[in-house]
Amino acid sequence: MSPQSAQSEPPPHAPLAGVIGWPIAQSRSPLLHRHWLDRYGLSGHYVPLPVRPEHLAASLRALPKLGFVGANVTIPHKEAVLTVADIVTDRAALIGAANTLIFRDDGTIHADNTDGYGFIANLEQNAPDWLPDLGPAAVIGAGGAARAVVASLLESGVSELRIANRTRIRADQIKAEFGARVVVYDWAQAGNMLEGANTVVNATSMGMVGQPPLRVLLDALSPDALVTDLVYAPLMTEFLRNAQDRGCHVVDGLGMLLHQAVPGFERWFGRRPEVDEAARQAVL
Ligand code: ATR
Repeated sequence: MSPQSAQSEPPPHAPLAGVIGWPIAQSRSPLLHRHWLDRYGLSGHYVPLPVRPEHLAASLRALPKLGFVGANVTIPHKEAVLTVADIVTDRAALIGAANTLIFRDDGTIHADNTDGYGFIANLEQNAPDWLPDLGPAAVIGAGGAARAVVASLLESGVSELRIANRTRIRADQIKAEFGARVVVYDWAQAGNMLEGANTVVNATSMGMVGQPPLRVLLDALSPDALVTDLVYAPLMTEFLRNAQDRGCHVVDGLGMLLHQAVPGFERWFGRRPEVDEAARQAVL
C-alpha cells in the first residue's frame, strides 16, 4: 500500500450519531439508542448534542468531519435545519420540519421527517384492527407535530381530515398546503369534529406534565373510534382516560417516539431495531 492510499483510507471507527437540540438534557433519544446498541451488541455511540440556535449551521457542517454518520433533530431546530440541509425529502419539505439527518460520504446533509412514519407505525402496532380509511380523522392542533400527523394520515388514505387549532390561521395554512380533504373547524367547536370520526388525535402539547389538560367535549365521540395522544408524559393523559371511559380504544404517544427513531438507527448503525416492551422501558 502506498503512503498516499494509506492516508486516504478512512480510519476504522464506531459510527457516531446524536440528537441536536437546545436544551437537550430532557431528550429520551439517547436512552433509546443506547438500549438498542447494547441489545444488538453493536459498536457505535449516540450522544446528546446541545447546540444553540445561532450555532446550528456551523455545528451541522462540523459533525460529518467529526465522524458522525447522522443525527436526530429536536426543538428548536426542526424547521431551521431545512435551510442548512443539502437534500430535503419531499415529506420533510411538505411538513416543514426534519427530525432525522443522514450525513453522506461526500459530506452532504440529507434531511428527512420520520414523525409521520412513527405515528402510523405506533397505531399499526397497538391497534392492529385500525383502518385509517374507514372514516374521517379529527386532529386537534396544528403545530409541527400535527403537520407530520396530517401528512401521514392523508398518505394512509383518510378521505376527510378535520382539524381545529387555538390559532385558527395555522389550521387554515395546513388546509392551503395539504388540500381539499382537509376541513377546518373552529377551536370553540372542536367537539363537533368528533361526530363520526374514526381516528382522533391530540397533536397539541396540552395534557403534558406542567400543561393544562386538553378538554374537548366528547359527547359526539363514538366508542368505535381510535383515540391517540402525541403526549407521552404522562402516558395516560386525561384526554385518553376520558376517551377510554367512553369505550374507545386508546393508544399513548410513547410508541410514536420509539418508532420515529427506527429509520435513523437502522441507517446509522446497520440494523433495524425492534420496538417492544424493553425499548419502552428503556425510555420510561
Ligand atoms: P409541536 O412541534 O410539538 O407541534 P408547536 O409547533 O409549538 O409544537 O405546536 C404546539 C401545538 O399545541 C399548537 O397546535 C398549539 O396551538 P397554537 O397554534 O394556538 O399555539 C397547541 N397548544 C399549546 N398550548 C395550548 C393551549 N394552552 N391551548 C390550546 N392549544 C395549545
